[in-house]
Order: sequence, then structure tokens, then C-alpha cells
Amino acid sequence: MKKLMIILAICCTSIVIFSLNYQKQESKISIKFSHVVAENTPKGKMALRFKQLVEQRLGDQVQVDVFPNSQLFGDNKVLEAMLLGDVQIAAPTLSKFSRYTDKLQLYDLPFLFNDMAAAERFQQGIHGQQLLQTMNERGLVGLGYLHNGMKQLSANTPLKTPSDVAGKKFRIMSSDVLHEQFITLNGTPLKKQFSEVFTLLQTKAIDGCENPWSNIYSKKFHEVQDYITESNHGLVDYMVVTSSEFWQSLDPNIRNELKRAMDEAILYGNQVAKQKVISDRQAIIDSKRTTVIELSDEERQYWITAMIPVWKKFENDIGADLIQAAVSSNLVVDQNSNRGINNNASNHSCIKDDCNG
Ligand code: SIN
Repeated sequence: MKKLMIILAICCTSIVIFSLNYQKQESKISIKFSHVVAENTPKGKMALRFKQLVEQRLGDQVQVDVFPNSQLFGDNKVLEAMLLGDVQIAAPTLSKFSRYTDKLQLYDLPFLFNDMAAAERFQQGIHGQQLLQTMNERGLVGLGYLHNGMKQLSANTPLKTPSDVAGKKFRIMSSDVLHEQFITLNGTPLKKQFSEVFTLLQTKAIDGCENPWSNIYSKKFHEVQDYITESNHGLVDYMVVTSSEFWQSLDPNIRNELKRAMDEAILYGNQVAKQKVISDRQAIIDSKRTTVIELSDEERQYWITAMIPVWKKFENDIGADLIQAAVSSNLVVDQNSNRGINNNASNHSCIKDDCNG
């Protein structure tokens, strides 16, 4: 009888422990992080770093699952899904927010930033930080910017001069500025999801596209495009977002810890972005599957001259002052002489007469 009582007691204790553990598992906060690129990209690696940091620090309270390669949602659906609570974190390109807010169209203006360092200076400044808040009225919180890199133009025929674009079909992200950019060059822009690009290129349903090196390499676009022009004509950068409802529902300590993990993951992602601009570009060249066309300063200037008229069309929507602030981020202050130096050889970026420092 005594033995039976002991066995019963052990069983009851095990059941209680099991059910407590089960409840704990059940009550864990679940974060689904959905994105469209491969894992071996700045965004893919940033997402995994975020998961790792959260698991280290909040592992018993928060569960992060990362869904790359449009497994869960494409960019066109992910923000709606976020508002419905089906996904908690995403990082669409800034171009994909432009249909929600005119101001963010800024980031798509061709040849706005000379390089990623200029984009970083702008984003960390007052205007960039204000733009991060523009999605608040849509129920989304901007947690930070993440870099990928400058875009390159690719096609199956060489794109040496702007007139080479004429008559060709290009996939673009869902952005009216990008639409106008190709119209200005007499090309035909088609708004398509990222997940469709490889097949569209392979089947020759489109002639070309614009992407940063890491997206070209990780999605093998260079294997179905004979030429890539190193145009560096625009930006592929991201806004990491969550829904206000989800974010505000969190215990403040957990929220702070998640934000800290996100800040660190973004810093790491930005380092990856810097490396990949060099290593993925080189891997593409080494693959010999495509020809990379480098532009001389003079040739690049033709592209700038052809595309800059796009700015005027969006100036009212975006705001001339905001455009000017972004242009000014191309000026690097020389600490010794205290003068602004525009470090772009082609020095295009002035919409006001007085911006050459
Ligand atoms: C991404 O980098 O998230 C996708 C970019 C694109 O849609 O071209």
C-alpha cells in the first residue's frame, strides 16, 4: 500500500511539472519574422542573429521563428498580415512602403545618395529618424533601418547608355518612382513580386531588373542575365517594422530587451551588407556567367542626366526640403577645414544652387 502511495505521488508530481512546463511553452510570446530574400543576405543574416540574441536573453519567454524566401508572405501581403497579427516582424524594402506614405518615396529617387555611407548619415539624422515614424499612423512601428546595397541594372543586352533601356521590360518593386524612372528611359516597368523575378528572367517574360549585388547573387539572377551594369543608381534598404498593437501589448522589460536585440542584429546586418557588396560582386564576376559592365565617370554622368528629371515629378509629394536634406548627406565635413566636400566624382546632387559647399 505504501509503495502504491509513493508511485501515485510520483505520477501526480510528474503530471503537475509536465503541465506547468506545457503552460509555460503555450504562454510564450511568439514572433514570426517573415522576409523574402535568402538566408545568406544582410537581411537573412540579421533575422537569424535577432532570433539567436532573443533566444539567449529571453528564451523562456519569447520564441522567434524566421521565414525567409517568401515562405510565409510576399512583400505585398506582409504588412496586411502584420496588422492582422499573423506576422510580428518584417523588413520590406523602403520602396515597398511608398504606397502607404508619399514621403518614403524619397528613398527611390535615382542617384540621390552617392553611396551607402551617405544613406546612413541621412537615416541617422533628424529627417531619417522622422521618416522612420511615418508608418505610425498606419499602425506600424519602425524599429530601424537595415542596409543591403546600391542597385545595379541587368539585362540580356548590354546597358551602356540610357538609350539602351528603350523598348525593354524591367521588373520593378511596387513603387511609382521606380515606375517613372523606367518610363523616363523609355523602358517598360512591370511591378512584380521578388519571388517571381528569377522565373520571369529565365522565361524571358522580362528583359531585365535592378538589384543589389547580394540579391543578384543569392537568387542567381546573374545566371539568367548576360550583362550587369554597375550603375549604383539607387538604394535597396529596409525598414524593420512591427505592429503598434503587438509592440504595445508587450511587457516594457521584454519590449526593451527585444529592441536592444534588434539594434544589435541591425548593426551586424549592416556589417554583412558592407562585406557582401564586395564579396558577392566578386563571386558574380568569378562565376563567368555574366559580364559586369563598369561605367566611366563620363558614362555614369549620362545616366544621371537621363534619370534626374524624375526628381521634379515627385518633389511636391516628398517635399523639396526633405530632398535637399538627403542631398546634403552626400557632403562629408572635412574636420580640418570645416568645409563640406561632395565626394561623388560626378557631383550631380544639387537641386539648389548653393549646395556645393
Ligand atoms: C528584398 O531585398 O527584400 C527584395 C527586394 C526586391 O523586391 O527587389
